[in-house]
This record gives sequence, C-alpha cells and structure tokens, in this order.
Amino acid sequence: MLRDTSVGQLLRYLFRDGFKNYGQNNLRCGLLKIINKSIARFTSQSIVFPITTPLTNYQSDNMLSNLERSAYILVNLDSLAHNISVLRSRCPSKKTGVISVVKAGAYGHGSVMVSHHLKNIGVERLAVAIVDEGIHLRKHHVKGPIHVFGNVQSWEMHSCLQYNLIPTVCDEKAVLTMAETLNKTKTNGEQLSGPIISDDIIYQSDVPQGSVNIKIDTGMSRNGCQPDDLPKLIKICQDHDIHVDAVFTHFADSWGNKEFTEMQLDTFLKATEPLKSLGIKRHASNSGAILRCYGTDLDYIRPGISMYGLPPDNASEEFKAFGLKPVASMVSYPTLIKRLQDGRKVGYGCTYTADNEQSIATFPVGYADGYWRHLSGKGFVIRDNSGERCPVVGRVSMDAITVRVPADTSLSETFTLMSADYDPLTSASGIADIVGTISYEVATRLSTRFPRLYTDGGKHLDLAVKALSFDSY
Ligand SMILES: Cc1ncc(COP(=O)(O)O)c(C=O)c1O
Repeated sequence: MLRDTSVGQLLRYLFRDGFKNYGQNNLRCGLLKIINKSIARFTSQSIVFPITTPLTNYQSDNMLSNLERSAYILVNLDSLAHNISVLRSRCPSKKTGVISVVKAGAYGHGSVMVSHHLKNIGVERLAVAIVDEGIHLRKHHVKGPIHVFGNVQSWEMHSCLQYNLIPTVCDEKAVLTMAETLNKTKTNGEQLSGPIISDDIIYQSDVPQGSVNIKIDTGMSRNGCQPDDLPKLIKICQDHDIHVDAVFTHFADSWGNKEFTEMQLDTFLKATEPLKSLGIKRHASNSGAILRCYGTDLDYIRPGISMYGLPPDNASEEFKAFGLKPVASMVSYPTLIKRLQDGRKVGYGCTYTADNEQSIATFPVGYADGYWRHLSGKGFVIRDNSGERCPVVGRVSMDAITVRVPADTSLSETFTLMSADYDPLTSASGIADIVGTISYEVATRLSTRFPRLYTDGGKHLDLAVKALSFDSY
C-alpha cells in the first residue's frame, strides 16, 4: 500500500486513486514510465539523459524523497500555449517569429520543461539572460537558436561557441574575441562540443555558429551600444567574418510610457533601417510593447512575463482584457492541523493570538520557497474543496506558514497558496500588489525546492523532472 504521506496524497490527487493498491516497486515503475513518457514527448529522442537511464534503488529512493513534500508548483502548459497564440495575434504579419524569454528558470516555471514545450508548439527561438542558463538548456537537450540577452563578456565567447548560443555584443572587444575564438576552432580544430551532448542537439539551428546579436541602447542606459556606434560595430563584424544575425533594443517602459517608447522605437528604426538590405533581422518588443503593438511588425517579438500570463505592471482591467492566462499556481496540503484554545499565540514573535477556539493548519511553505514574509497576517489561501479563503495568521517563517482553517479541514485536502488568476488576494499579481513588488519578482522567487508538476491537455505529464534532480530545473 502507498504510504499515507505527501507522496501518497499527491499521487492520489494526480491519478484519482488509481495507484491506491500499488506496492512500492510498482509505484516506482509507474512513476518512471510516466516521467519517461513525458520526457519523450518533449524531445525528439526517446533516450534522454539522465531520466531514462535505469534507475538504481538509490535514484528511485531519492526521487521519492524529493517528492516527499506536500507542496508543489502546478504549471499549466495549455495556458502557456494559449498565451503564445494571443501574443502572436498582436503581430500584423505571420512572418514575425517569437523569441520566448525563459531566463531565471522560465520566470520560475522551470526552464527545461517550459523550453521543450515551447519548441513543441512551434516557438522559433528562446532567450536567456546568462550563458550558464543557455548551457543548462543544451545539457537538457533543448535544440534550436538560444539567445543570451545579457551583455556577454569576451571570456564567455568560447562557451557560446561550444554550446551554440547567440551572444549579445555591444562593443568591439566582444566581437574581436568571438572572431578570435571562432578562428582558433577553425584553424586548430579545437574540440568544441561538450562530452555528453550530441552535435544533433547543439547544432540543430538555422543560425550559423558564431553569430552574434548587437544590442542598441535607445534610452534605457543599461546594456547596448549607442546608435551612432552601430555602423562601426557592424563593419568590425563584417571584417572578421562574424555573422550579425540581428540587432535589437529593449524598452524601458513599454506598458506605462507611450511617449518614451515611441521615442525609443523611432531611434531604433532610424539606426537600423540601412541594415534591412543586409538581411540583418531586428527585434524590440517585450511584453508591454507586444500588448500595445510597438515593434510587433519587426522580425521577432520577445515575450517574457505575458507569456506566463502575468502583467508587466498590475493586473488592470485593460491588461485582463487581452485574455492571457496565468500559468503557475502553488498548491499544498496542510501537514498538521491544531485546535487552539482562546488566547494561544501563533508563530515567531507571537504576533497572532487566537481569540476563541479555532483550527490552525501548518503548511510546509515559507519565505525560503518564495512565499513572501510580507504576507504575514495579510495573505490568504484558498481551500480547494469549498473555495473558501483562509487567512495566513502569525508570521510567515522560512519553511512554514500557519493558516486559520474551518474546523472540518482534513490533512488530505489541497489548498491553493497562489492561484492562477488575477485574484487580488491570492494570485501572483495580487500578492505582488500586497507586498509592494511586481509579478516578475513573485514568479522568479518561486524556489527550486518546489517540485513542479506540468499539465498538458488536462493531464499531468510529469511528476517534476526536478524531483529526480534539482539540476533539471
Ligand atoms: C532583452 C529582453 N527582451 C525581452 C524581455 C522580456 O521582457 P518582459 O518579461 O517584460 O516581456 C526581457 C526581460 O527582461 C529582456 O531583457
């Protein structure tokens, strides 16, 4: 019989009691089959490192112990696909491609599974912020063009070549280093690909190896060369046989500031107009710009936050009207429920006092998981059985929260700690408002301690790749 622990509860929830009478070995087998099946669906190869190597006892025990958590992030891949089609519909031409931004663990949703799914539904390109994130994707068999949007340093060019990542360059030194590195590998035949990744994965891209993107600073004053420096930089690339795949810029306030965005777009278009005849592509639009149709007629759009269904600012009626769907929710079972007498204190600092007899449930989620400490005494969670909202009482601690729940609450029911909607009290955008931040921060703080469960077509596809290895987040 399944142990009556979080694993058992989770599986019962997932498979509607279908595993009830399985022994441990059958359970492991079943889990493995499901994981293998889901990974195979996400990749063109059926053999994938490390999931499909036969599990030793150690690995399977490890897998179960990683699932020994009564809390997880549910990632709805259907909503992700829906959001992509909404964002594509903002572009006047079907020729405009999508560069999906999957940096920071796909904004907390899990970069590996999200990237594979995005490739499966036809997204043309992916982008990360740093080289390590790109390497991570390649190591998990993500194919196709991957941009690195941060200002890539010269000493990182070798890795870009090795893993076929497209670096962003802004200055002469970076271009020269790329040229030198490329040249060395051509003339010395230096081995580029890493030991465990096949060329098929790394080089399956329509962007020539050693290509770069040049970023132009049109007003944000962060990364990027000045527009006047662009012709010189292009010339340096040409002189050194470096293929310039595209030039791009980034908007400082595309959702909130029409005039500034128009000024940036105008500057970008003027600076890059002569490049069109050279076949160099152009892209500019982040979420705010896509929704407001700035630069959506260029070669690519670059959605991040909106692809995950979250607003660039707060969830205004105007934003909600686009019909995007938040992708992630946070679900948990209580791990303990206590009946407290009048006058009992709850949590660190004794900030809450029960004012009559009441039930307090402990959930195994805290600020180390990305559940905000600022929600102490302010947050709410949803009892899934009834839809009731229950208040977070006492302080949010590192690994636990305490919630006042109805007296009939049982340990086997789920609660939603972050809802996949725009609820002002429980959604990512609502939580952002309460704690005084933006949805970006709420999403990206969802910790790697959480297993992530992916659903597609209403089915649970994966019992968290991460449950096998923290590395595959
Ligand atoms: C260059 C670039 N493009 C696109 C994005 C996506 O932005 P957003 O999440 O606002 O859509 C980012 C994110 O910071 C970025 O750095």
